[in-house]
Amino acid sequence: MDRLNGAAGAILCIVGARPNYMKMAPLLRAFRAHPGLPQPVLVHTGQHYDPMMNDRLFEDLGLPRPDINLEVGSGTHAVQTAEVIRRFEPVLDAYRPSCVVVVGDVNSTLACSLVAVKKSVPVAHVEAGLRSFDRAMPEEINRVLTDQISDLLYTTERAAHLNLKREGIAEERIHFAGNVMIDSLLEHRSRAVPPAETLRRAGVPAGLLAAPEGFGLVTLHRPSNVDQPDALAESLGIVRAVSEIVPLICALHPRTRANIASFGFESRLASERIAVLPPQGYLETLGLMSSAALVLTDSGGMQEETTALAVPCLTMRENTERPITVEQGTNTLVGRDRPRIVRLAEQIVATGGKRGRTPELWDGHAAERIAQHLARWLAARAAPLHA
Ligand code: UD1
Repeated sequence: MDRLNGAAGAILCIVGARPNYMKMAPLLRAFRAHPGLPQPVLVHTGQHYDPMMNDRLFEDLGLPRPDINLEVGSGTHAVQTAEVIRRFEPVLDAYRPSCVVVVGDVNSTLACSLVAVKKSVPVAHVEAGLRSFDRAMPEEINRVLTDQISDLLYTTERAAHLNLKREGIAEERIHFAGNVMIDSLLEHRSRAVPPAETLRRAGVPAGLLAAPEGFGLVTLHRPSNVDQPDALAESLGIVRAVSEIVPLICALHPRTRANIASFGFESRLASERIAVLPPQGYLETLGLMSSAALVLTDSGGMQEETTALAVPCLTMRENTERPITVEQGTNTLVGRDRPRIVRLAEQIVATGGKRGRTPELWDGHAAERIAQHLARWLAARAAPLHA
């Protein structure tokens, strides 16, 4: 098959925020490599813009510079979503793409899907069907709505299929493709930056890494854990308590850092057993995760990455949209239950903790499967009826 050219309509690939980049990088490569697909065009909404939240990850993942940057920046959910919608529409009109590919569950995912579907441009949602069943999470709203309006739903685990069926989504729109985030992890794992080097670059003494119990990695940024003073105080209290069991490296999201400063909580992390770092690049994070004795987090993606790396993960949430990481992987949901977290951390240090296995189709080839399926789907769509 000849490569379709611009006239056939590009594939517009959308990224907005940090967790999108490691999902889109393998997709872009697979789309480029597939002779039956139109050229991908990378659109960045600009939801994340800090060099540490953005540029470093682009570099680490070998992502090309975005073809278009909508530069929406931060704002309330309404403002951010509305700005993406407003600024994406003329881009869609100019490109008249054959489809729009969105990943994950951030505000940009929903905003771009909505613009496309209203202009009759097909939308493919990668990482569809995940449900926490917690509508207080902005991501859950984004997931449910994006899935309802997408034409193609590529899933990472079988539970997602059931969730979609329950919401009345037709079987033929759903395709179990595997996990593109794990494509990135497997591809870049050998280039991971050693933790000692990461601490050196951050100007933090590496003595913390010499502890016989190893070290733990902490990331916290969910509004439910960090936006209110009481919740943030509890979260930091837990970090402090766990640091007495195993020294901790905390890579702080800008929102968490800002809240710690505005509530005057800086002293709560002041300890020789806690190293506070800015958000890290992808290769640094991979290095920290792979070598950690445990990970304490409220991230969505790190629940999956620790499962793939077989590193025990304590997830500070009451629910997860990624149940397979608990059922088959190394993940345990712990909320902010401090006594339980302390007990589990002690157990992990003593025994190595929960052992898991790698879920089905988390094999490094999810993006290729999606490219193949998408090429067939677009070709069938372009073919005249009764041909
Ligand atoms: C977003 C996603 C979340 C994802 C997270 C990863 C939504 C609804 N949430 O949350 O699912 O897990 O990204 O980081 O889309 N900020 C900066 N620099 C940046 C980006 C943000 O300083 O480059 C600060 C700003 O103060 C901003 C705040 O972080 O107001 C929150 O950013 P926002 O994009 O609204 O959501 P995240 O919390 O990053």
